[in-house]
Amino acid sequence: MKLIRTENYAEMSLEAGKIIVDKVRSNPILTLGLATGSTPKGVYDYLIQDHEANRTTYTKVKSVNLDEYIGLPAKDPNSYHYFMNQTLFKHLDISENDTHIPNGTASDLEQECLRYEQLIKELGGVDLQLLGIGQNGHIGFNEPGTAFSSRTHIVTLAQNTREANSRFFNSLEEVPTHAITMGIASILDSKEILLLVSGERKAEALNRFVNGEISEDFPASALKYHENVTVIADRDALKYI
Ligand code: F6R
Repeated sequence: MKLIRTENYAEMSLEAGKIIVDKVRSNPILTLGLATGSTPKGVYDYLIQDHEANRTTYTKVKSVNLDEYIGLPAKDPNSYHYFMNQTLFKHLDISENDTHIPNGTASDLEQECLRYEQLIKELGGVDLQLLGIGQNGHIGFNEPGTAFSSRTHIVTLAQNTREANSRFFNSLEEVPTHAITMGIASILDSKEILLLVSGERKAEALNRFVNGEISEDFPASALKYHENVTVIADRDALKYI
């Protein structure tokens, strides 16, 4: 595991953005694994600015997102479909058909999980997976206790995850209780992983990730089984390290 220490959120985003742009330029047909939430927003801003300034092109890039809430249609401003379209996709030249996110309103959700897992396989797997981390160590929406062997599946969101994400909703009650997420094994199949960690709120989780044991009680610890993980963290997140 490689650890890149940065001063702040802006520098973390810049470092991650540069890595992604380099990959896209050297392999214009790659498959990117993408995340939502507050952490990757600065990276997405960087990709957009670079696309405008340097014409990095995404016409042959494919993307797969980690997760989606169950019950929120793509047009719902709190859905991850909506987030990705507004925050990134509509600003790049990536084709809508090449961006993939689990469908949280599928009539058969179990079937949707199988379809998504198969789709990732058909795309040749994820070349570079971007990850954030939850305060409880979740990656994607794989909450503590998730089997490391898990594939794309339906999850019940932990109460503290719903509370953390309620900042995007009008109230806690509006936060969906379930989601579809790529599993831990699906994530570990990625050829390369970039884990971004920012802010004091994540300091304990980062400390446990770096210094703690590998355990299903702390999903991110599975990343230690992966041979190509780069963690980019800012000073506040590195408080205990
Ligand atoms: C989002 C995701 C989650 C987030 C995590 C951190 O697609 O899979 O694991 O990365 O909840 O969220 P933020 O970045 O909002 O602190």
